[in-house]
Amino acid sequence: MTLNQVQFAVLGQLFHTPVKGDFQYLPKALVCIDSQGNILSVTTAGDGQFETNIQQLDQAGKLTRLTDSQYLMPGMVDLHVHAPQWPQAGKGLDLPLYDWLQDYTFPLEAKFADNNFATPMYQAAVSTLLANGTTSAVYFATIHNQASLTLAKTCLALGQRGFVGKINMDDASQCPDYYVEKTAQGLADTEQFIQDVLALPGNEQRLVSPVVTPRFVPSCTREMLEGLGQLTAKYSCHVQTHCSESDWARDYSLEHYGKSDVAIYQEMGLLTRRTILAHSIFLSDEDCRAIKQAGASIAHCPLSNMYFANAAMKTREILDQDLHAGLGTDISGAPVPSVFHTCLDAVNHSRVREDGTNTQLAASQRGESGSRISFLEAYWMATVGGGLAIDTKVGLFTPGYAFDALIIDTCAPDSDIFIIDQLDTPRDKLEKIITLNRRSNVRKVWIQGKQVVNKDC
Ligand code: GUN
Ligand code: FE
Repeated sequence: MTLNQVQFAVLGQLFHTPVKGDFQYLPKALVCIDSQGNILSVTTAGDGQFETNIQQLDQAGKLTRLTDSQYLMPGMVDLHVHAPQWPQAGKGLDLPLYDWLQDYTFPLEAKFADNNFATPMYQAAVSTLLANGTTSAVYFATIHNQASLTLAKTCLALGQRGFVGKINMDDASQCPDYYVEKTAQGLADTEQFIQDVLALPGNEQRLVSPVVTPRFVPSCTREMLEGLGQLTAKYSCHVQTHCSESDWARDYSLEHYGKSDVAIYQEMGLLTRRTILAHSIFLSDEDCRAIKQAGASIAHCPLSNMYFANAAMKTREILDQDLHAGLGTDISGAPVPSVFHTCLDAVNHSRVREDGTNTQLAASQRGESGSRISFLEAYWMATVGGGLAIDTKVGLFTPGYAFDALIIDTCAPDSDIFIIDQLDTPRDKLEKIITLNRRSNVRKVWIQGKQVVNKDC
C-alpha cells in the first residue's frame, strides 16, 4: 500500500462477522479506503509499517480516529422495505394481511401516481433509513414509473445503495380498480424503468440497480410472471417478491397453480442467484432445495411475521441448510426503520417459536426445541447475509469489499447503550450494541467510501 492509493483511512476498534455465528473484534485496526471507495487494507499492530502508516496518513490529513466509545461496524442491509409505505408506518397493524392491503396499503400506494406527492415521501423514507445505519436497501416502490424513478434518484442523491423495483400488479380480479395495470403496458413500463435506472446520470458505478418486482402471486397474471421472467434474463436483473407469506397467500397459489410460490417463480424464470424472496414462511423441503440450487435468497422479516405470517419462520433450519438469508424491516408491515432492531426481532421471534405459546400444553410439547438463533447469527444475516443476497461485496471489512460502514458511538447523546469495561467482554459489547442501538448512536455513515451521514462526533 502506498499513501497515494489511500483516499482516507479510519483507525479504531471494529466489529464484523466473517463466520456465521461468530464475530471478530479488532481493538485497534487501520482500515484504508481507495479512490473508488473500496477497502484497500485492514491492518493491526504487529503488521509491518503499522505505526508509520498511521503517522503518514495523519500528516496527510487522511486519518479519522475513533474515540474509545466509538466502533466501526459494517453498514446494515435491509433486504425488504416498502418505501411508499413509510407514511403509514405504525398504522393498521391490528389487521390480517388481506385487509391491511385493501384498507391501508393499496389506497396509500395509489397516491404515488402523483410524483409531487411521492417526492417528499421518498426523501423522508430514504433519509430515515440512512440515519438508522441502513447502507443498502432493497425497495418495493409502486406500479408508477415516474415515482419509482424518483425513488431511485433519491437513493442516488442521498448516496444510498438502492435496489429499486417498480411493482407489477395486473390481475384485475385481485387488485383494486384504482391500483392496477394492464399486462402489456406493465411489462413495457418495467422494461422502460430498468433502462431508465441503468441510464441515470451519476449512476455509472451502479449504486442504484433496478429490480424486477412482481408484488406477489395473487397480484399478477401468469402472462405477467412469464414476461417478467423474460425481462429478468434479458437484463440479468435482481428479482424481489413476496413468497409464501401467510396462510392466505400460500393457499392462493396452491388453488390457482397447484404448486408453491417457489415452484411458480422457478417455472417463470424468476428464481435466480439474484432473487430475494421476502418472508418464505411455508417452505417445503423441495422449495428449500430449489432455492439453494438457484442460489436465491430469503429476506427474513421477523416483526412483520408476527403480524401477518400466521406462523413462525423456520430461521434455524434455513441457516443450518446454508441458504442465503438476510433480514428485512418490511416497512410498513412492521413499523421500525432499523435493521439493528430487526436483529433483536429475529432473535425474539425464534425464542417464542422455541418455547411455544400454549400454556395448556406441557413444556415439552409447547414449542419447537432447538429452533432459537443467536444474536450473532442475526447480525451476520443483517450484514454478510444481506451482502450475499444482493450479490454485492458489502458487509465485511475485507480488502476488495466496498467501504459501507458505520461509526456507532455508545456514548452518543441520549444513548441507551451502557458499556462497562470491567464487566463487558467484546462479545457483551457487541450484543449490547445490536440490541440497544438507536438512531442517535449512528454518528457517521459511509457508502462506497462516501460519507453520507455525519452527526458530529
Ligand atoms: N404481500 C403483498 N403485498 C404486501 C405488502 O405490501 N407487504 C407485505 N408484508 N406483504 C405483502
Ligand atoms: Fe413486504
